[in-house]
Amino acid sequence: MGSHVSQPDFHRVIAIDGPAASGKSSVARELARRLGFIYVNSGAIYRAITWHILQEGIDAEDSDRVTRALQSMAITCCIQDSESRILVNDVDPAGHLRDDGVNESVSRVSRFPPIRQIVAQKLHECARTHDLVVEGRDIGSVVFPETPYKFYVDASPEVRLRRRAAQGERDEITMRDHADFSRSVSPLVIAEDAHVIDTSYLTIEEVVQEIIARLKEIGLRI
Ligand code: CDP
Repeated sequence: MGSHVSQPDFHRVIAIDGPAASGKSSVARELARRLGFIYVNSGAIYRAITWHILQEGIDAEDSDRVTRALQSMAITCCIQDSESRILVNDVDPAGHLRDDGVNESVSRVSRFPPIRQIVAQKLHECARTHDLVVEGRDIGSVVFPETPYKFYVDASPEVRLRRRAAQGERDEITMRDHADFSRSVSPLVIAEDAHVIDTSYLTIEEVVQEIIARLKEIGLRI
């Protein structure tokens, strides 16, 4: 036996990574519903932390103040109606997670290593008690590298811009993508063993079908 230890204390985790507006959320939520797994949106945790930092009037570029704010922030991740729910100091910021300010600052806040560590820790806690479908940027590559169930969902930049605009949001996804791909800690990468799906011309149902077929192929009992 080597020193390599898999993570037996984790339930099953399906990782869905990909860039902004690639269709991750709809696919991950529907997949979780079909499988009876819990749906976890890791981006929502970064967004909740960002929202709180902005509420405190802290500049998202100020790493010292952001780190200090983090120390006095109680972040609770619980499960309700088969989905994760996040509270910051007992406040649920769900209605603010897609505010313009949060869209603008979330990729800056999420590059700070202490923030990434906290989010990974919260995700690990959830995986100790439930089977999860987790969507994000580094779920297969960094947070749950041991899971065999990894997917990278992509779409062309034009399609992604169109999808986000159709949601009526002001969201500079090109800027966010650039920050996510180029940051030094846990950048958005395609995990070596991830199954890549280009969703540009697929419906959500088709993507979910493809993922389920692949999961069966690699032996997930469903
Ligand atoms: O849904 P959308 O693609 O707009 O993004 P999101 O999943 O809500 O994530 C918002 C931002 O959080 C991303 O642009 C990343 O900067 C950050 N994020 C991250 O760094 N790592 C993750 N696992 C998830 C999100």
